[in-house]
Amino acid sequence: PERIFSGIQPTGNMHLGNYLGAIQKWIELQNSGKNVIWSIVDLHSITLPQDSIELRQNILKMTATLLACGIDPEKSILFQQSTVSMHAELSWILGCNTTMPRLGQLPQFKEKSEKVKEVPLGLYIYPVLQAADILLYKATHVPVGQDQVQHLQLAQHLAHTFNRKFKETFPIPRALVNQDTSSRLKSLRDPTKKMSKSSNDPKSRLELTDEPRVLLNKIKKAVTDFTSTVTFEPETRPGVSNLIAIHSLLSGKSPEEICKEAENVDTGEYKFVVADVVIEKLTPIRERINQLIKEPQYLEKVLSDGAERATSIAVNTWLEVRNKVGLGNNA
Ligand code: TYM
Repeated sequence: PERIFSGIQPTGNMHLGNYLGAIQKWIELQNSGKNVIWSIVDLHSITLPQDSIELRQNILKMTATLLACGIDPEKSILFQQSTVSMHAELSWILGCNTTMPRLGQLPQFKEKSEKVKEVPLGLYIYPVLQAADILLYKATHVPVGQDQVQHLQLAQHLAHTFNRKFKETFPIPRALVNQDTSSRLKSLRDPTKKMSKSSNDPKSRLELTDEPRVLLNKIKKAVTDFTSTVTFEPETRPGVSNLIAIHSLLSGKSPEEICKEAENVDTGEYKFVVADVVIEKLTPIRERINQLIKEPQYLEKVLSDGAERATSIAVNTWLEVRNKVGLGNNA
């Protein structure tokens, strides 16, 4: 049976890359009546240092943000990863069935470990935990942005390995990645890199909770190039093309249409057009987040209900796995 799983880290605020690359797809799958599970992956967040008070606030804020975007707890299971302890337990077993070279090659590990002097072990085994997230629910499909495809390949590999060694257990999970630019939105400060939560420069990303003047300012400061016309050439003009992509994804207009309309303006003037579109789209979401964040008890209730439902699925897989491996007490 089809089951869909995905996750988002509660590190900082959701940005437009997360929203267009993944969350819009989550809502679409939810609303088409699919069997869907979404996790706020706090265990993944602590692979890099976090302030404990801030982390707790960010988990509730991410909950509010997902609800504001359209996640409906009646139709989706929405829960906090660390409240279902079997994620960490399964990741141990999977970790014992993979090798160090395989993990060391992953591009996100290479990138993130370069930024720290001494690499935490958690950063290294991060993709094993991600595989455990998916396999614990025997998920068949995983909607993600382009940057997660390699992690998905590891999850597929771990599922195969386990199945071969311990008999058929896990379906091989498939990545669902948008085929357009939405699966890889770029940083506004360096359009050769992806828009990301972990970048030190908040001007590199448009966050869903940014006030209109902040959005305008970030877009005005977005790095473009020395050509003043508005043309869509992602390879040679990544900066302006990223703005056109954002504009196109939010308005439903094609990049060609947008360039035609912007024929007589330069990139500086065009930025105001993009800002208008972004502000119009994000304002109702921001207002809804600000309302929901004032109801922490409701948010906590959503998460605890979600944890209960997630647990009732996870426990079956966990007992099966534990038995097959020869651990536990045959319960
Ligand atoms: P995270 O929290 O970095 O991002 C959440 C989702 O947003 C997508 N995304 C983007 N899409 C397009 N353009 C961008 N610039 C961009 N930046 C981020 C991500 O691809 C992701 O789909 N390791 C995962 C979280 C995770 C997970 C899982 C996902 C943990 N366990 C199990 C799927 C299944 C992560 O850090 O996502």
